Amino acid sequence: MRDVAHQQCINPGCNATFAIDEIRVACGKCGNLLDIRYDWRRLPIPRSMTFFEHRWSTKGTGIEGRLDFSGVWRFRELLPFYHSEDQIVTIGEGRTVLQRADLLAAQLGMKSGGLMLQYEGLNPSGSFKDNGMTAAFTHANMVGARRVACASTGNTSASLAMFASLAQMQGVVFIGSGKISFGKLSQALDYGALTLQIQGDFDACLRRIRQIATDPAMGIYLMNSVNPFRLEGQKSIMYRVLEALDWQSPDWVIVPGGNLGNCSAFGKAFLELKELGLIKKVPRLAIINATGANTLNELVSRRGVKWNGGKYDAETVQKLYAAMDESNYHPHTIASAIEISRPVNLPKALRALDVMNGVVREVSDEQILEHRAMVARFGFGCEPASAASVAGLHQLLDEKAISPDEQVVCILTGHELKDPNVTVKYHTGVDMKSVQDMAPRQAPTGKLANQPVQVEDDLSAIVKALGLDSGKIKSTPGSEKGDGSDFPPKSVEE
Ligand code: F0G
Repeated sequence: MRDVAHQQCINPGCNATFAIDEIRVACGKCGNLLDIRYDWRRLPIPRSMTFFEHRWSTKGTGIEGRLDFSGVWRFRELLPFYHSEDQIVTIGEGRTVLQRADLLAAQLGMKSGGLMLQYEGLNPSGSFKDNGMTAAFTHANMVGARRVACASTGNTSASLAMFASLAQMQGVVFIGSGKISFGKLSQALDYGALTLQIQGDFDACLRRIRQIATDPAMGIYLMNSVNPFRLEGQKSIMYRVLEALDWQSPDWVIVPGGNLGNCSAFGKAFLELKELGLIKKVPRLAIINATGANTLNELVSRRGVKWNGGKYDAETVQKLYAAMDESNYHPHTIASAIEISRPVNLPKALRALDVMNGVVREVSDEQILEHRAMVARFGFGCEPASAASVAGLHQLLDEKAISPDEQVVCILTGHELKDPNVTVKYHTGVDMKSVQDMAPRQAPTGKLANQPVQVEDDLSAIVKALGLDSGKIKSTPGSEKGDGSDFPPKSVEE
């Protein structure tokens, strides 16, 4: 008998399926992204979303109490990919709230009650990533993974490192040297992850880690958002928004776009809720890029790329990426969390825009900085990337694409303390980063000191830094066919 959950290629022309216990980073047939799909007819689906409300009152440290406490797993009937509840790895993530932001609404000329902020910085590691990590670690636990890794602009690495230490797996994080904020770097080190500072940006780190993780000989389980289990957990952000609004959809959901995992998860959440008849209205989606990392906006708003039933215009995407390579383009924005030029979840984001009748915009670093400070002035802290959502709202109001009496939810993806350098510089003009660079260095003396390792952007050097045998790696630079590191994917043989 087939499992009630399986992995499935998102390309409707392929639709290849894989067992839930397989470890994959891409479709083995066509190289596209994978979804987790459920046979809902064979699953106990609640008749109404109000079913989930009773879980708020569950108490206790037993499995039931711990799952009900989690803002992800209290909706577990909507992400039932695990075999048994004791496989779930949870730290009480997702206890976040939708905050009514009337002062900010008034500042933007909106009516009272019209603007809500989904405050994901309240997660245990300080960002929305914990929603996805709990689900991906649950899968890693199901398949017996020992070593888990990600490339990151900072928050994914912080969250991975936290869950890895909790689950007693070895965490490995690839970060661009000098590319992530201090708050996030400190978390990866403190939770004990092997931290490789690669001489390159996020896109380079992700490419390298995908090369390594596709090779079973390396024994590395990939935790980036190409891992479809991550997105299953991130669907719960939308469930909590609905819950706070008494199960009525808002008019708009606005989210910053980086690697495009979060917006993709939102699209899947609404696709499924609609299919299951659990909601009537699907909100509209606005994805906000930073101007210095605006691939999605360029493709969607300027070059007209659409989901088109799965047959999106891959050639246009390819052309843009080729032009980027040719001009040696690298993204650059003060919002380091979303400094990404080749978003791996692009096709899923196109699908989300289709499901949620969405739009894409870009905002400048100046808009990001001013709106970040504005959010803080009205009582809610967030890091720069998160403020792109509020800056995007402001722009959409100015354009009259959103009317001031619509109901809008902006996702504040990360906590204010993630990136204090930006805040201090904004208020004082002093760049703490360059001040620190001038300070004399001392070797750490702490008994648990966990120093980052500097590595060149070179496959064999990285494999060596991981303590693995570089002679064993199958994919060598330039021959990464089928590792999913190129977009659009090339077709691959199993
Ligand atoms: N906001 C914050 C604070 C983030 O850390 C990220 C992504 C995003 C928004 C964008 O979300 O990638 O799902 O579109 N950070 C990743 C990381 C890439 O490595 O921490 P996305």
